[in-house]
Amino acid sequence: MLKPLRLGAFTLPNNLFVAPMAGVTDRPFRMLCRALGAGHAVSEMVTSKRELWHTLKTSRRADHAGEPGPIAVQIAGVDPAEMAEAALYNIDRGAQIIDINMGCPAKKVCKVWAGSALMQNERLALAIVDAVVAACAPRNVPVTLKMRTGWCAAVKNAPLLARAAQEAGIAMLTVHGRTREQGYGGAAEHDTVAAIKAELRIPVVANGDITSPERAAEVLRATGCDAVMIGRAAQGRPWIFGDIAHFLAHGTHRLPPTVAEVRGWLLEHLDDHLALYGEFTGVRSARKHIGWAVRGLPGGEALRQRINVLDEARAQLEALATFFDALAATHERLPLPVMAAANDQAHDHDTEALAA
Ligand SMILES: Cc1cc2nc3c(=O)[nH]c(=O)nc-3n(C[C@H](O)[C@H](O)[C@H](O)COP(=O)(O)O)c2cc1C
Repeated sequence: MLKPLRLGAFTLPNNLFVAPMAGVTDRPFRMLCRALGAGHAVSEMVTSKRELWHTLKTSRRADHAGEPGPIAVQIAGVDPAEMAEAALYNIDRGAQIIDINMGCPAKKVCKVWAGSALMQNERLALAIVDAVVAACAPRNVPVTLKMRTGWCAAVKNAPLLARAAQEAGIAMLTVHGRTREQGYGGAAEHDTVAAIKAELRIPVVANGDITSPERAAEVLRATGCDAVMIGRAAQGRPWIFGDIAHFLAHGTHRLPPTVAEVRGWLLEHLDDHLALYGEFTGVRSARKHIGWAVRGLPGGEALRQRINVLDEARAQLEALATFFDALAATHERLPLPVMAAANDQAHDHDTEALAA
């Protein structure tokens, strides 16, 4: 089940992908996930609005310096011509794969008919696919598409859209097993994803609630999909890709990473993060990554609270190093996190971020 995947002229090293997550999967985090076993990483979405391309936020999102290829950039918008232009703009800045977002339920996106709201307007959705594919084809850039199962339980139109998108030249499709109406509530279902996979020739990627090696294996088996995509379960646990790869290859769990390994990965990630964002923004935006990494660990909550009031990079890095040194004194390997309350907190945070 673990296998390389061809996408246009590229061969992705394996079929375990990290999901695009706005505010999370920036270049440092994508590089960390790839280094720890992810076979593909799609960037956070970049708006098709030309007037926003020069903002610091968008230019950081389009920064791919040092990132291993193929570089995949997700675009979101509502106007076919603007989306085609956004695709070309990102190709000129290093994108080698363009991903169209029809999966994100954020109000900011849906209010203007972008993201998963596009699924309610099939004609417009397909006009966007046509325009982006036409713009990318002469550059030999594959176009991928990410969608949900439909708009609501009564309108699960993903199979119809998926067939039409394949005919329009989409090279790979990812389906998050929830409707737009569900947001992040309920559980992801992969039956619709399996039905889509059965009908399509192009690679299909299953996404939603894949949180463990067993679940990844189950979803691959049950859907027949070519790959799985993991979002929230990689937050603070980017080595999940290596864990899944090991499980798929050997049928057994590998040992958890050592505390020293986790300390090294996290400190290196923070260095990269601070280099991209600068100290003022970087210290603040790093807090969520630190919070996820120490969630459920002994002393993790106290560290999270302390980190939230530190606003200097050196103090933040030192606090983190001290935390892991203390943990290493009692544990060689990362202890299993005690997650019950911590998980609820994480989900609240995500829902807030997406409702914004
Ligand atoms: C904080 C956050 C930001 C997200 N941003 C995007 C985005 O920019 N584009 C997108 O297609 N999906 C986005 N998603 C959805 C994820 O890519 C993924 O489809 C979803 O989280 C389900 O996968 P999971 O259960 O593995 O997290 C986001 C999800 C989260 C939690």
